[in-house]
Amino acid sequence: MGYNYPHPKLYRELASWWPLLSAPEDYAEEAEFYRKTIFSFCSTTPKTTLELGCGGGNNASHLKKHFQMTLVDISPDMLAVSRSLNPECEHIQGDMRSVRLERAFDAVFIHDAIMYMTSETDLQQAIKTAFVHCKPGGVALFAPDHTRETFRPSTDHGGHDGHGRGLRYLEWNWDPDPHDSTYVADFAYLLREGEGEVRCEYDRHVCGIFGREAWIRIISEVGFQARALLFEHSEIEPGSCEVFLGLRPND
Ligand SMILES: C[S@@+](CC[C@H](N)C(=O)[O-])C[C@H]1O[C@@H](n2cnc3c(N)ncnc32)[C@H](O)[C@@H]1O
Repeated sequence: MGYNYPHPKLYRELASWWPLLSAPEDYAEEAEFYRKTIFSFCSTTPKTTLELGCGGGNNASHLKKHFQMTLVDISPDMLAVSRSLNPECEHIQGDMRSVRLERAFDAVFIHDAIMYMTSETDLQQAIKTAFVHCKPGGVALFAPDHTRETFRPSTDHGGHDGHGRGLRYLEWNWDPDPHDSTYVADFAYLLREGEGEVRCEYDRHVCGIFGREAWIRIISEVGFQARALLFEHSEIEPGSCEVFLGLRPND
């Protein structure tokens, strides 16, 4: 198991801070969009869903009310965070490019973790993993933060307070080379623990970025029928973001 780029500190030694960067309750609206999409495109009522790159399990904390969820992530530290939020779900360590569970699900979901696929080869491998774990008549849903067409340099900030500690972050998305298949998300985390002590950590996330044509082509090449769908969310400008679907034909 290996990474093309160093795995962000956020998913290793800083994993326990994840719920203060990204709180489960903030995912309710988007998880509902993913649930509705899976229900609309599955040929039968979906009961089981595999999530690849589940991270801290924020989406899963909502989706588990509707599906039996199996959660895979490459990082044991992030799986530990998700296990404490979602103890009733099955958790498995694995790389979305190569993991093989030898069983199939009604739906396969890859949320923003797909952004860590930094080459077309990686992306193809992850989508192939989704295909082999998807039942005939089932659906795979891929939700990248950006495509080449929708990417704009941007900054964001946020964070939360927890028991005896707090986190605030600045996120800066920019693209050093618009001609390759990556951009970077540079993060500064301010971490407060104890009475008044705050430390700062810098963390670079190298993310993949692909055009719409590449998404549709790769999803089709592995054997799915490919679709693109506009993502709808009250905080996202209408028409500014797309998700991709792979419909696995009935045998
Ligand atoms: C932003 S977090 C996902 C958060 C998730 N969407 C949620 O709802 O909580 C991204 C995750 O992708 C995982 N990841 C990155 N590369 C991976 C790979 N090759 N296979 C599996 N997981 C991977 C990281 O370990 C990290 O936990």
